[in-house]
Amino acid sequence: MFSRRQFMAGTTAATAAALAGCGPSRDGRVRIGFVVKQPEEQWFQSEWRFAGMAARDKGFELIRIGAADGDRVLTAIDNLAAKNASGFVICAPDPRLGTAIEQRARVNDLKVMSVDDRLIGPDGKPIDSIPHVGISALAIGRMAGETAIAEARRREWDIGRTGVLRIAYDSLETGRDRTMGARGAIIAAGLPPAHVFDAPQRTTDTEGGFTAADPVLTRHPDLRHWIVTGLNDEAVLGGVRAAEGLGLRADSVIGVGIGGSGTAEAEFAKRQPTGFFASILLSPRKHGYDTSVAMYEWIVRGSRPPSLVYTDGKLMTRDNYRRLLAEEAA
Ligand code: GLA
Repeated sequence: MFSRRQFMAGTTAATAAALAGCGPSRDGRVRIGFVVKQPEEQWFQSEWRFAGMAARDKGFELIRIGAADGDRVLTAIDNLAAKNASGFVICAPDPRLGTAIEQRARVNDLKVMSVDDRLIGPDGKPIDSIPHVGISALAIGRMAGETAIAEARRREWDIGRTGVLRIAYDSLETGRDRTMGARGAIIAAGLPPAHVFDAPQRTTDTEGGFTAADPVLTRHPDLRHWIVTGLNDEAVLGGVRAAEGLGLRADSVIGVGIGGSGTAEAEFAKRQPTGFFASILLSPRKHGYDTSVAMYEWIVRGSRPPSLVYTDGKLMTRDNYRRLLAEEAA
C-alpha cells in the first residue's frame, strides 16, 4: 500500500511527466499542433483544413490552436506538451516571440517549425534553427503590382493622376516585402513615387485595412483613380471598402490582394465587379498539408524539414478563380 505521501508524490511525478510531454500517448498516435495567430481569417481556416487532410492521410491527431498573443502562444505550447504532442507548426502573432517559442518548445521536448511568418531572434534576424515555410514575398508583391498597373493601362488611366495606396504592416518582414514588391513594380512601370501613399494598419484584417486607408484617401480628393495594395486580401478589401465609402466606384479602383482564400472568392462571386480586381492565390495546401506532413516525418522518421521553403503564387481574377480553387482543392 502507498502511504498518502508516496501516492501524492507519484501523482505529482506522473502529472509532471504528462505536462513535460514525455509520456507515451494512450493510443500510441502521433499528435501534432497547428497554432495560428488569427483563427478567424480565411487563410488560416484553409491551412487548418489542409492540415486536417494530412492528419487523416497519415493517421496522426491534429490539435488546432488559435493564439492571438504571446501569453496564449506559450500556454498553447504547454498544453500541447500536456496532451503528449510531439511537435507543432506555428504562425505566431508576433515574430519577435521567436526565442521564447524556441525555448518553450525545447523545454517541453517538442519539435517546432514556422509557417507564413518567420520567427526572429533578439538581434532581429531570422532564427535559422527553426525550419520555415513562407511565400516568395517580393516576387508575389511584384506580381500584384504588375497586375494592377497592367489593368490601369487597360483602363487608360492617366498614370500621372493615379494614386497608390500601400496598406502597410511593415513590422512583419513578409508583409513589408509583399507591399514593397508591389510598390517597386508600380514605380518601375512609370508611376511617380510621390503618388504612393503609405497607410499603416494596426491589425491585418479588413477593419485594420479600412481604418488605415480611409484618412489617406480622404486627404487626396484630387486623385480619382486608386491602386490598392496590402499584405493580404483582407487588408486590400478594407482599402477597397474605404474607397467605396468615399464614392470611388469599381471603375476607379484596382485592388489586388494576396491569398485567394474565401475572402477573395466571396468578392469575385458577386454579380457586379467591385474594386477588388484580383488576388495572388497562395497555396494553403503547401502551407497546411505539406508542413504538417513534414512535421510528421520529422517526428516518426527523424528527417528534419528543409530550413527554408518559399512558395509561389498564381494570378487569380473573376475569370479564373473557380478553376484555380478547384485545382487547389483536388
Ligand atoms: C501572413 C498574413 C496572412 C497570410 C499569410 C500567408 O501571416 O498575415 O494574412 O497572408 O501571411 O503566408
